[in-house]
Amino acid sequence: MSLEAIKQPIARELDIFEDRFRDAMRSKTPLLDKITWYIVQRKGKQVRPMLVLLSARLFGPINEASYTAASLVELLHTATLVHDDVVDDANERRGFFSINALWKNKIAVLVGDFLLSQGLLLSIRHGEVRLLEIVSQAVRDMAEGELLQMEKARKLDIREDVYFEIIRQKTASLIAAACCAGATSTAPDDETRRNMWLFGEKTGMAFQIRDDLFDFGTDDVGKPLGIDIKEKKMTLPLIYTLAHADRNTRRHILNIVKNHSEEREKVDEVIHLVRNSGGLEYAQEAMFRYRDEAFALLEKAPDSEYRTALRDLVSFVTDRTK
Ligand code: IPE
Ligand code: IPE
Ligand code: MG
Ligand code: MG
Repeated sequence: MSLEAIKQPIARELDIFEDRFRDAMRSKTPLLDKITWYIVQRKGKQVRPMLVLLSARLFGPINEASYTAASLVELLHTATLVHDDVVDDANERRGFFSINALWKNKIAVLVGDFLLSQGLLLSIRHGEVRLLEIVSQAVRDMAEGELLQMEKARKLDIREDVYFEIIRQKTASLIAAACCAGATSTAPDDETRRNMWLFGEKTGMAFQIRDDLFDFGTDDVGKPLGIDIKEKKMTLPLIYTLAHADRNTRRHILNIVKNHSEEREKVDEVIHLVRNSGGLEYAQEAMFRYRDEAFALLEKAPDSEYRTALRDLVSFVTDRTK
């Protein structure tokens, strides 16, 4: 199912969110205003605001707190993408040049800081301290996850359990916070909030595995391909391949990742080995397991068209082509 179709039950609310989000990006500083305008023109899929608003709508009508949560989550997501492209030295995002490609790293770092603080201020202005706590924890996790990933990129000794911990921190935590914050705005009981957090976490795990699979493909997804290996990021397909390769192949792959990751043909050779080892299928199976766990948790929420839309959104996450 297309994202457009999934958005239908909350189309009006998403329009209101977009206005709020655009307002929160404004700045009196001309350079910042120019850059945030550039960002708003190339909006992403908006999966996180959809998760916030649908998770809220499961338990009651969308209110001011739901909009604040959606705006905060998307602001922080945008901030971390701007920073992530500096960290990953990526020149493309959402099918266009990244901020660091157009304005250089120095400016991208400051733009990310600006977006982050706009999100914090927005929550404070609305008196949403609990929301701020939920989401700030996720942002801390993201930083820790990316740093753990870097540490592993240096040593190349990553195991599957560490990979899952990295993606839980760097991606699933914000998606969990999105679902929990949405539910919190309309259903403040602890049990429900906890369940929606877990639902988001499983969805987020599936989301990042899908993203990591893109990197081994050839389809245009609006961001650079093959750069995970270039950045020595050991993702699940590669971890599986290494664990099942004979000694020589294993040493060969590790040598390329360690010493030749800037050479396109060598990286392509690794990608080829991963494709032939069943690593992609293995990762896909793990992704579907997380998806199914998310489905099961969602069953605990009351049945409605919004629950169906959330279910479709989880399916979108695993079937998406960008
Ligand atoms: C990209 O997230 C970052 C990851 C966690 C993989 P999205 O794929 O949701 O990015 P946009 O917002 O749609 O561009
Ligand atoms: C997820 O990691 C990014 C964040 C948690 C910000 P990636 O580096 O794989 O994300 P993409 O592929 O650049 O979107
Ligand atoms: Mg990246
Ligand atoms: Mg990626």
